[in-house]
Order: sequence, then structure tokens, then C-alpha cells
Amino acid sequence: MLTSFDFLFNTIKYKHCSDSDLFSFRVSSKMASFRLLFAISLVALILFATLTPSISKTTKNDDVEDDEDLRFLEETEGKSDVGSPHSHFNEEDEDDQYGDLDEDDFGDSDLDPYKEPEVDDKDVVVLKQGNFSDFIENNKFVMVEFYAPWCGHCQALAPEYAAAATELKGEQVVLAKVDATEENDLAQEYDVQGFPTVYFFVDGEHKPYHGARNKEAIVTWIKKRIGPGLYNVTAIEEAERILTSEAKVVLGYLNSLVGPESEELAAASRLQDDVSFYQTVNPDIAKLFHLDPQVKRPALVLIKKEAEKINHFDGQFVKTAISEFVFSNKLPLITIFTRESASSVFESDVKKQVLLFASSNISEKYIPSFQEAAKFFKGKLIFVYVQVDNDDFGRPVADYFGVTGDGPKIIAYTGNEDGRKFVFDGDVTLNKIKAFGEGFLEDKLKPFYKSDPIPETNDGDVKIVVGNNFDAIVLDESKDVLLEIYAPWCGHCQALEPTYNKLAKHLRGIDTLVIAKMDGTTNEHPRAKSDGFPTILFFPAGNKSFDPITVDTDRTVVAFYKFLRKHASVPFKLQKPVSAPKGEPETKTGESKESSNADSKDEL
Ligand SMILES: *[C@@H]1O[C@H](CO)[C@@H](O)[C@H](O)[C@H]1NC(C)=O
Ligand SMILES: *[C@@H]1O[C@H](CO)[C@@H](O)[C@H](O)[C@H]1NC(C)=O
Ligand SMILES: *[C@@H]1O[C@H](CO)[C@@H](O)[C@H](O)[C@H]1NC(C)=O
Ligand SMILES: *[C@@H]1O[C@H](CO)[C@@H](O)[C@H](O)[C@H]1NC(C)=O
Repeated sequence: MLTSFDFLFNTIKYKHCSDSDLFSFRVSSKMASFRLLFAISLVALILFATLTPSISKTTKNDDVEDDEDLRFLEETEGKSDVGSPHSHFNEEDEDDQYGDLDEDDFGDSDLDPYKEPEVDDKDVVVLKQGNFSDFIENNKFVMVEFYAPWCGHCQALAPEYAAAATELKGEQVVLAKVDATEENDLAQEYDVQGFPTVYFFVDGEHKPYHGARNKEAIVTWIKKRIGPGLYNVTAIEEAERILTSEAKVVLGYLNSLVGPESEELAAASRLQDDVSFYQTVNPDIAKLFHLDPQVKRPALVLIKKEAEKINHFDGQFVKTAISEFVFSNKLPLITIFTRESASSVFESDVKKQVLLFASSNISEKYIPSFQEAAKFFKGKLIFVYVQVDNDDFGRPVADYFGVTGDGPKIIAYTGNEDGRKFVFDGDVTLNKIKAFGEGFLEDKLKPFYKSDPIPETNDGDVKIVVGNNFDAIVLDESKDVLLEIYAPWCGHCQALEPTYNKLAKHLRGIDTLVIAKMDGTTNEHPRAKSDGFPTILFFPAGNKSFDPITVDTDRTVVAFYKFLRKHASVPFKLQKPVSAPKGEPETKTGESKESSNADSKDEL
């Protein structure tokens, strides 16, 4: 997986600063997938690059005779550098990319990025390693912001956060901040992977805050969580106000406003903290909420503004059953994909998604059956409609899923965990979608992977791998295969290209060795996991069912050659050319430039 879908969403939705300076020693694909949280738009997503430190810059050459004379490789390397496709490597482009990164990192203002603006945040508590745990333990509700002083998005949040702290002064909640650049251990303990990261602690348990970064939103969000969670409705006007103003409400029609029924309801409300819970004993109010005033109490109803507006609860009146009912029914049958709805999809506890792609002029034809099908999968699958002719967010998501044209196309997606996709085939009818959804839940569908067309000829030194010939080339048990996963726009990939071509040229006589590359933006394969571009993987012959080895040697011909000599299942040796060409004066510079890129990686 090059990117995950929710990660894509996050890039649309959130502004974050990267942490790469801070935790450069922690490299995992999970982290890499968070690196991009700070990109604001897909344009930025496609344009910028960030540095990923490599874990190890040195290669263990123990198995390779160190005295092997490899100078001929370097010399040829220098020589063929001249007139090689080096022009592809456009320094200016790369600078531009980093320019974008900087701007994004530090916000759009002209502020000196390292100068913290003056903010009066006297009501924001400063926490450090030494007093963090005690403080969290002794305060029931604490919001904590992990920030980096240099991060523009944190600077933008600071005055809002300070104002929220002041407004909430006297309530049962404290707003605190931790400078993650100083409190490294704390930031690690709380898995801080971008700035700002805001958590809300309730009795020591934390949950992320993903709401808007302004005072109003923070205050409203917090008030909801520190309030009683369950409110009385006694007046008709009050009931009317609630029904018109709130998007999702639960009403319990009880025998009494105090006692066990009310307690179960209050407990359920704490488990579903994005829905407002009310209780009443007034039959007229129950009626307004579409309950039969004569119904046996306790009764409960969930009312939302979207399709299928009313859901009646018919389970046992205990907190778990109520909470499950609300969980299954609170999401709209179909979520229309927008910037605003993104978080409800991706922060949902339901991870599996079924996405309908269609342009707006044909959507009305397909949405009704799609929506009808959704009723069978409440609480198990999220149904999302993506308007492909929306260039702002619909098109990028369609591109991510490899969907072209106006649709309709339906794709099931397992979410971020393994990122598998399944393509719906046939007419968009209720029964077919239902069968598709069932097959998806039971894991009976065949996954789909993006692929360019298989190239007609493929006899260059570097073999072209696409999704659909991956098995044939990369998983061929008789070959040792080195695979570069690149992106056309990636500067580091372009810088690597001449070296990679030279390596392939040197090794082309060796039958058991394949040097290959794959455009990771248009091709996918479950065995081609990459956490950025370029990713270089080695698949040893005779051992293709194991995970490949990630190659992180220096990006020079010699280093690659030594790596291959060490790891290839089928031993090989290059014959030194009879008369090695003389090195050009540029040899040295060419070489050092390439190795300086060894720890650089563009990410998507
Ligand atoms: C925690 O410790 C730091 C440094 O000693 C101090 O500045 C801060 O005020 C303390 N916070 C609380 C809530 O005691
Ligand atoms: C609801 O009413 C009951 C009974 O009057 C009262 O005990 C309780 O505190 C009220 N709850 C809220 C949130 O006001
Ligand atoms: C819908 O709009 C697209 C352009 O977005 C157009 O290509 C297509 O022909 C239209 N389809 C219908 C049925 O009008
Ligand atoms: C295959 O790869 C695994 C994991 O890298 C390794 O433990 C094993 O020894 C390899 N087997 C052979 C036959 O090379």
C-alpha cells in the first residue's frame, strides 16, 4: 500500500506538521503513512516530498569478499553518466517540492518559522515528563496538545486554544500543552506522529480530538463530554428546538427521570459521545419524537436528519444494547463523500466500506438501490457515494481507486488495515449489491489490484513490472529479483534512475537476476508494499512466499551490486571487463551526489 484511503482523506482534511525531525530513529510503515497528514490538498500530495531517514546507511558486506576489485563498476558508472538520462533529474523541480513542504509545514503566514508568536495562554497548563501522569490522574477531564514550537499549524492553534482554556476556566476541565520537541518520551508514549496532536483524557483514558481548531469548536466539543451526557426534556418548545436544531438525537421515554432506566441511558450516552441523548416522561413530547404515547416504557427512538429518519429500539433496556443500537443506526445509510463527511467515514468504528462512484448527472439512477442495500449492513459496512465529477475531492478519490470515467462503479474496500479492494461486477440492482456486500463481509470476493497494461515488449535492461505481470516476473521462483517501486514525479527516483539503469546494464548477462521497476502510482500488488518512493525490494529466488527484503544500501551501483552478491539465492559473479574504461573527472561528483540521496525518499 502506497497510501491508505483514510490517509488520503486526512491529507484533504487536516493540517499537520511532520515529525520526521523528531523521531528520525523510528521508521515504520505506520509512521510513514502519517507523515503526510499535514498536506492540505491532493495537489500538494502529488507535488511535495519529505525526507525519510533510512534505518541503516551501511551495508554489511560480510559475505562479499571485501577485496573484490569493484573499481571497474564505479569507473563505468562515471563514464556512462555522461549522456545518461540524467536530465530527468530536475533539481529545480525538487527544490519546488521542498518549497511546498516548507510552506505547508510552517503555515501560510510570513512568520519566521522559528519564532513563536506571543500568545497569552496563562490558562493553559504546561506539562512535562515529571508531572504529566500525576496531573492526568488527579484531573477527571484534561485536553492535552502535543506541539512543536516551529510548527505553523500549532502556532495557528495557540491563540484559539488559549481562548478555549480561558472560557472553560471554572469548568471541570483543564487544557494543557506538552512541547513534544522537549518531552520526547511522552510524545512517543502517546504515539504522537504529527503536530499538533490533541488528546482528550477522561479518567486517564485518552481519545484523539479531530475537531476544528478554533475556540468555538473546542469549547462545544468539550462541554458535550464533560456534561451529564443525558438531558431532560420537559417542555414542548424545548423538544421542538431539539428536533429542528440537532442532526442526530436519541430520546428515551421513561417511567422516571431518575433511577435505573435513566442510569442505563446515561451510561449508553457516554459510549456514543457523538449523539445527543435526552429523556422524558411526557407523552406529548414522546409523540413529537414519533413515539406512540401509549407505548410500553421505557422506549427509545433515534432520529436523524438523513434518509431513514426514525429508528425504534426494541431491545433490552440496558446500556450495551442501547449503545449497539445507536452505533448501528447513527450513521446515514449513505455518506456522501465531502471534505466534511470524511472524518465520519474514517473515524468510524466500522472500517469496511462500499463505495459507489458515479458522476452527479447519473447518480439518481443508482443511489436508490445502493441506499436500499445499505439497510442490510448497518453497523457492519459504511456505504459511501463518491461524486466523480467533483474535482475537489471526488476525482482524487476515484483516481486513488483507479476508477476512470463517469461510472457507475462500485468498489468494496477493507479500510486501512490491509487496503484490499473488490470490484463489483454487473448491474447496479439491490439484490446484486446485497450479494456483493455479503460476499465482502464473508471474505469471499477476489481482490482487485490496479495495473497499467502489460507492456508489449519488455526486453530492456530494466524490466517493466505492472500489477498484472507482477506474478510472472517478480514471483518467478527461478529468479532473484530486484524491484524499484517509483513514482514518475518523485525527484529521488529520477536521481536514482541512471544508477539503476547502469546496474541493470552491468548485470544483464546474468540470467538468474532480474532488475525491475514498477510505477507505484498506477500499479499495485499485495506483495509490493512500499512506504514511500522509491522503495527498493529484493525477492530472492526459491523463496518468494516470504516477505521481500527492503534494500536500504547506498544508492550506488557498487552498493547495489554488493547487496545482490550477498543476498542472491543463485550465486553469480561479474567478470571484470578486459579493458576497463578510464574514469572521467566527473566520476567523483556524480558518485557523491547519488550517495547523498541514499537516505532520501519521496513519499506518497
Ligand atoms: C509541570 O512541571 C513544569 C516544569 O517543572 C512546570 O513548569 C509546570 O508548571 C508543571 N505543571 C503543573 C501542572 O504542575
Ligand atoms: C433531570 O430531572 C431529574 C428529576 O428532576 C433530576 O434529578 C436530574 O438531575 C435532571 N437531569 C439533568 C441533566 O438536568
Ligand atoms: C454526465 O456528465 C458527464 C460529464 O461530467 C458527461 O460526459 C456524460 O455524458 C453525462 N451523462 C449523461 C447521461 O448525461
Ligand atoms: C527464506 O526467507 C526467510 C525469511 O527471510 C529466511 O528465514 C529463510 O532462511 C529463507 N530460505 C531460504 C531457502 O533461503
